Amino acid sequence: MDSLEQLVNSAQADFLAAPDAAALENAKAKYLGKTGQITALMKGLGQLEASERKAQGAVINAAKEQIEQALNARRDALANAQMLARLNAESIDITLPGRGRSIGGLHPVLRSWQRIEEIFKSIGFAVADGPEIEDDWTNFTALNNPENHPARSMQDTFYIDGQDSSGKPLLLRPHTSPVQVRYARHNKPPIKVIAPGRTYRVDSDATHSPMFHQVEGLWIADNISFADLKGVYLNFVRAFFETDDLQVRFRPSYFPFTEPSAEIDIAFGSGPLKGRWLEVSGAGQVHPTVVRNFGLDPEQFVGFAFGSGIERLTMLRYGINDLRLFYEGDLRFLKQFN
Ligand code: DAH
Repeated sequence: MDSLEQLVNSAQADFLAAPDAAALENAKAKYLGKTGQITALMKGLGQLEASERKAQGAVINAAKEQIEQALNARRDALANAQMLARLNAESIDITLPGRGRSIGGLHPVLRSWQRIEEIFKSIGFAVADGPEIEDDWTNFTALNNPENHPARSMQDTFYIDGQDSSGKPLLLRPHTSPVQVRYARHNKPPIKVIAPGRTYRVDSDATHSPMFHQVEGLWIADNISFADLKGVYLNFVRAFFETDDLQVRFRPSYFPFTEPSAEIDIAFGSGPLKGRWLEVSGAGQVHPTVVRNFGLDPEQFVGFAFGSGIERLTMLRYGINDLRLFYEGDLRFLKQFN
């Protein structure tokens, strides 16, 4: 009995002395392992008389339980100590300054886009949207764009796999003009709308990007004239560029969807671009065929349309000379607008 008590005592002492989990498992083997002392005592029970075996077995079991308890207690203590050490080592220094959060900003082209919407909304224009993947009829035919017109060619239009219901290939819209058709076919005159959005052409240099932005304008009623176009556009550019010291002129041009057609040029009365005529938009009186394709009678309804490049307007507003800067994602450039 004495020896069993000693055994328990020495196991408790060994466990307490184990500095880490590995040492503890080694110490455990000495008592509870295959060749351990408790294990040996258990094996020895076989040689005892049945009556003695029961009593002795109970005593050995009690000692074994005490040893196991001591083992588990030491295991917990070691695990806790380890956790505590880790918590101390990994503790967070709350006095360190934070990393900060970088603040995003609007892209300059989107700033212009929003600005354009605000200006036109303020004079009663609605804002419409259309799909960037267009069908041949809406993009070309409805806009009086003849089969052999260069705008239709493979050189500047991105065609995509897939066909419309008439078997014609689908395309990425090269201008926002098809939104005129979509909007006018679903809304009754007076039609007074702008349609800003992304457009696509196979084109890439300092003043062209394969993806760019346009804003389309359309005002159709029973008596809308070129004078209205001039008034609306002059109001727009003066608001957009925040100056009244600015002139607008119309140069004769050609677009299939307008007759007559014009390019709109502006000239600033001061600043670095002072006195130079700068082209900012195509425009014109909507062609009778296009009005008919709107589902309207061209004898009754007349009006104007325009299509302006948003990058172009943005470059003039901020004095940017290379359009590619918009799409390089260089924060040094982009941060200047926020
Ligand atoms: N869609 C033309 C282009 O992309 C721009 C344009 C010109 C739009 C005249 C119009 C317009 O609505 O009347 O070059």
